[in-house]
Order: sequence, then C-alpha cells, then structure tokens
Amino acid sequence: MKQFLLLLLVSALCATASLAGPDGATPANSTIDLTQWAPPNIAAVGDDPFGALVKYGHALFTDTANEIGPTVPDATRRLAGNNLTCQNCHLKGATQPYAMPLMGVWGQFPQYRGREGAVDTLEDRINGCMERSMNGRALPLKSREMAALSAYMRWLSTGIPDGAKLVGAGTLRIKEPTRAADLPHGAQIFAKVCAACHGADGLGQRAQAGAGYQFPPLWGPDSFNNGAGMSRLLTVAAYAMHNMPFGTTFSAPVLADVEAYDVAGYIVSQQRPRKANLDRDFPVRLQKPIDTPYDPYVDGFSPEQHRYGPFGPIRARVQELAASSRPANAGEPDNRSAPPQPAR
Ligand code: HEC
Ligand code: HEC
Repeated sequence: MKQFLLLLLVSALCATASLAGPDGATPANSTIDLTQWAPPNIAAVGDDPFGALVKYGHALFTDTANEIGPTVPDATRRLAGNNLTCQNCHLKGATQPYAMPLMGVWGQFPQYRGREGAVDTLEDRINGCMERSMNGRALPLKSREMAALSAYMRWLSTGIPDGAKLVGAGTLRIKEPTRAADLPHGAQIFAKVCAACHGADGLGQRAQAGAGYQFPPLWGPDSFNNGAGMSRLLTVAAYAMHNMPFGTTFSAPVLADVEAYDVAGYIVSQQRPRKANLDRDFPVRLQKPIDTPYDPYVDGFSPEQHRYGPFGPIRARVQELAASSRPANAGEPDNRSAPPQPAR
C-alpha cells in the first residue's frame, strides 16, 4: 500500500513536471521568441554568492581582454589568445537577436554537435569559443571563470524553459547568391561601409584605455582563428547583414544580401591565426558545413569553392551522398542559424 501511494505521488509529480518548465510558469517544449523577449537587467543582480558570480561572468563576457586577455599582469590568467571580448560578437552582453544571443542557451545543452561529433556540454561549447573565437586556451572546468560564465548564461536564461525552441537564436541567414563571392566588389563594400570603424586594414581600433578594442579586428594576428564559426563565409554574411554597421538590427538591414555575401568573401580571404588539428573537426565528414574553410572534404569540390561558393552545387552533392548514410543535417551549419525571411 505504501509503495502504491509512493508510485501515485511520483506519477503525479511527473505529470506536473511535463506540463511546467523549471520555473513552474511556462509550459515545456514551448517556443520562445527572443526578438520579443525582455532581457534581464544586470544592474538588478544582488551581491549574494550567485549574484556575485553572475556579475563576474558579465565582466568576463563584456571585458574579456582586461580580465583574461594575453596582456593581463598575472600570466596564469592569460587564457584568451587575442584581445577580443565575447561581446564583440555576441552583441549587448549576448542579448541581441540573431547576433548569437545566449538567452535560453542554458537549457539547450548537453547537445550533439557535428564539429566534435559528440554530445557537448555548455562548458565544452564555451571552451569552443575560447579556443577558436578567442584563439586561446580552454578554461579549466573547475575554474571560477568557467563557473562565472556558466552562471551568467544561467541568469541570461531566466524564465526560459529547458529545451524551448528559440526564435532569434544564432544568426539569420542571407539569401544566397548562386555565384561565388565577388572579392573586388566585397573590397569596395568594405571600404565604403566597414572601414570607417574596423579600419581600412581591417585590424580594428584599440580601446582608449586598457586592453581590448573600440572597434574589433576582422582579421590579422589579433583576430579569431580559422577554426572559428566566424571564419565561415555564410556565418559572417548572416551576421554582418543583420548586425552591421554597428547599431543595425535584423528587422532593418543596411546591406543587401549580395553585398553581405561579397564583403564576407573579402573578410574570409584575409589572413588570420591558424588552429592546429582542424582535421579532427567534424569526424562525420558529411556533417561539415559546406562553407568550412579547411579540408578534408569528401564531396570532391575544391577548397576554393568551399571557401567562396557557389555553395548550391556542394550542398546538392553532400545531400546526395548523405542519402545513403543519412547523417543528420548534412552540410548544414552546425549552429542555430535560421533560414532567411521570405519577405523583407
Ligand atoms: C559604426 C561602426 C561600425 C561599422 C561601420 C561596422 N562595424 Fe562591425 N563592429 C563594430 C563594433 C563596435 C563591433 C563590436 C561590438 C561590441 O563590442 O559591442 C563590431 C563587430 C563586428 C564583427 C564581430 C567581431 C569581430 O571582431 O569579428 C564583425 C564580423 C563585424 N563587425 C563586421 C562588420 C562588417 C562586415 C561591416 C561592414 C559591412 C561592419 N562590421 C561595419 C562597429 C562597426
Ligand atoms: C569572433 C566572434 C565570437 C566571439 C569573440 C565569441 N563567440 Fe561565441 N559564438 C560565435 C559564433 C559564430 C557562434 C555560433 C552561433 C550559432 O549557434 O549560430 C558562437 C556560439 C557560442 C555559444 C553556443 C551558443 C548556442 O546557441 O549554442 C556559446 C555558449 C558561446 N559562443 C560563448 C562564447 C563566450 C563565453 C565567448 C567569450 C569567451 C565567446 N563565445 C566569444 C562567435 C563568437
């Protein structure tokens, strides 16, 4: 009888759990539209132990170079290899829609990722950006820095149910031209639209005080490395079209799709740090995004075409090859990029 009652209690609890998210208010398996979501306010965070950790995470995220950059006085804290800050890409403390916002990211992990060919934890994913976007070293799992960045993402995800479908996450893809990127045209767009801030040489402008940048570099020795998501043409194009010039949002892009594509090609054609062992990425080769700028490839197309397009023929070939072995998302970006909007 006791056991029966316990069983009843457990099944009642399970029933409630399947109806409500972690905060008990929002149904699980729901869709959260981040373009309409009010981000939490960092100024309202308290000084209790969790609040203090969230604030440290916010400092690390928005001022990375002065916290763990390559020039900080304490050599043991030089974990990032460049002077970028996480927020240089994840805009507004990772709250800007389609600029890889991290609101809700807490409830999306652990998750299978094609790049590792394995289930990644959120910590693995943070270290992915440390080793690639920040061209540096992985944060030790037990470090206060890792705890702080996790706490920051937990806090950014307040009120968003685990596993919710997130609209406005990742990037918003461009309508892809059917030709290769036109680099001279890309150079013209760069000079006309981007150089005023990022510099004619693309190397950015340093901050007036401390480490870090007022305008971050888009290539060169202090930029992200060739293993970073931002080194892929379609990611840069999607990001630039819906976020640049700085202040632009996805609902009112400044660049046309073809301009974003060509300027992205120009950026991708430049020199940047190289990551070792990139051949270990995407062990299931057909899951490699078609615009990945490093080999090996299994589709027979040249490294040149993988870098600059046209991508349609590669995509078609990869899907053909995948039809027999059926790996999920063959050739697609291994991230949360959304298909282009039908009308703009
Ligand atoms: C008005 C100044 C301005 C203009 C013009 C501008 N950007 Fe930016 N860009 C920024 C700033 C500032 C950031 C960093 C944002 C932050 O830290 O909050 C940034 C970040 C970026 C990033 C991510 C960070 C990095 O280092 O790679 C990319 C990519 C980028 N811009 C591309 C472009 C492209 C392409 C153009 C031209 C189409 C462009 N930007 C035009 C100011 C500008
Ligand atoms: C050069 C640009 C850049 C910088 C700098 C950068 N990231 Fe990223 N980050 C990206 C891109 C691109 C993605 C892939 C987004 C997607 O899913 O479409 C990403 C993804 C992520 C994700 C996974 C998001 C998801 O939805 O699954 C996390 C977590 C993350 N970054 C954390 C960080 C942290 C922490 C830092 C600083 C230590 C950082 N990033 C610095 C570009 C950057």
